[in-house]
Amino acid sequence: MRHRRVISFSANTVKSTFKPLNQKAKTMNVVILAAGVGKRMRSDLPKVLHPLAGKPLLAHVIDAARRLAPHRIVVVYGHGGETVRKAMAGDDLHWALQEPQLGTGHAVMQALPHLDRDVPTLVLYGDVPLVPHDTLVGLTKAAGADKLGLLTVDLADPDGYGRIVRDGDRIVRVVEHRDADAATRAIREINTGMLIAPTALLARWLAALSNENSQKEYYLTDIVAAAVHDGVQVVSAKPAEPWEVLGVNSKRQLAELERIFQHRLAATLMDEGVRLADPARLDVRGELVCGRDVSIDVNCVFEGRVILEDGASVGANCVLRDTRVGAGAQILPFTYTENSSIGARARIGPYARLRPGTELGEETHVGNFVEMKNTRMAAKSKANHLSYLGDTVVGERVNIGAGTITCNYDGANKYQTIIEDDAFIGSDTQLVAPVRVGRGATLGAGTTLTRDAPENRLTVSRVPQTTVESWKRPVKKATRKG
Ligand code: UD1
Ligand code: CA
Repeated sequence: MRHRRVISFSANTVKSTFKPLNQKAKTMNVVILAAGVGKRMRSDLPKVLHPLAGKPLLAHVIDAARRLAPHRIVVVYGHGGETVRKAMAGDDLHWALQEPQLGTGHAVMQALPHLDRDVPTLVLYGDVPLVPHDTLVGLTKAAGADKLGLLTVDLADPDGYGRIVRDGDRIVRVVEHRDADAATRAIREINTGMLIAPTALLARWLAALSNENSQKEYYLTDIVAAAVHDGVQVVSAKPAEPWEVLGVNSKRQLAELERIFQHRLAATLMDEGVRLADPARLDVRGELVCGRDVSIDVNCVFEGRVILEDGASVGANCVLRDTRVGAGAQILPFTYTENSSIGARARIGPYARLRPGTELGEETHVGNFVEMKNTRMAAKSKANHLSYLGDTVVGERVNIGAGTITCNYDGANKYQTIIEDDAFIGSDTQLVAPVRVGRGATLGAGTTLTRDAPENRLTVSRVPQTTVESWKRPVKKATRKG
């Protein structure tokens, strides 16, 4: 089958196609501002750790930074402290503590010791997670090595943002909303906050910042007037769409951005040929890789890395995490899977639960209220109703009757059950592990298997059936009145 990556390709893919030079070319520094409080989130979790599409906001920004293959990435952290730092993986990250938080200019100052003065510095925000790669490339190209570049956007409602003040075409300064007069507030072009500056100049401009403004903060935006004063050209780049530069300040905005993200991803999936019953009712929190003619019904959640091979279908209300679904397999409604692999043309659900370590062969059937854990089941075997199979190896063409339970746990240790090819397990059977059912063996319904069952024979542990001739149904005793 042809796998297509539908989100973005990872850094690894890029590396494998380019032969890296021994000496990594210096490109730029990236500083990510992530020290702010995020009061309006009304949460104990630091704002930048709130998840969007299953991944912390800050991780989205770090990934965007990594795609630029920068010389350095420096994250400025403060509020939330070590929690933020520990939540982000990567030896490539440098951390600068900003304590107390005295404004965006003060934040960038904390990063200065980590920066290479010979390459420009791009500033990103840890709470602006959707900014596309191309938009950032557009900004860096506009600024080159020696200009100050601002990412700006025209908004119908510019309230709250810093305004871009121009003299003709020339940008002359940025004025914060709170410091702006009525005429300045009427300007619709706003500062997204993202900018790129020559690093040596940036250091000089930051050193000269003052906090004489309405918020008593060191504003990064004041470097614009400083650049103009020094005769450094200030240029701007614009995002293709306003949503690209939206930030998260509240749970409402977080939900809005989540929808934008999911909507775009759904559109990409459909462009690649995936049939979505409703693009508004899909949630991908990780990476979803789809083959040809895949179809997905409403309200499905995909987490981690999920692969749906050619012709696979997923019914309504399924949750699949780190799962591979083989070609032509059907996942019926209300199925939950985790760390599982499902063979071609298998039929799973409705209401199946596959826990980690489940590996199902081709044309297997797993039906309603069947739970599996750490279990391998080979081709054409079936467990169609109400069963628990844990730590079990099932051969080919095995039939597991309704209500079969593997007793894999004695309260202290776990043991394995082995069921060989062509065995038939009668309904309501318990297999007390460790135990083996031989090839072609049959277990009578209701058996409690405590020793191995031999090949090709019937094993049954049932109490022989008797009919008690003398027995009569009790009758209700007559009660005397009064
Ligand atoms: C900032 C800009 C404003 C722009 C707006 C876009 C300044 C002075 N103003 O305003 O022009 O329109 O963003 O959203 O830069 N942060 C720190 N340390 C601090 C303060 C902030 O790391 O001391 C981080 C925050 O975590 C956040 C980012 O910087 O990621 C922006 O901070 P925020 O307080 O939201 O800036 P605004 O006042 O909205
Ligand atoms: Ca903000």
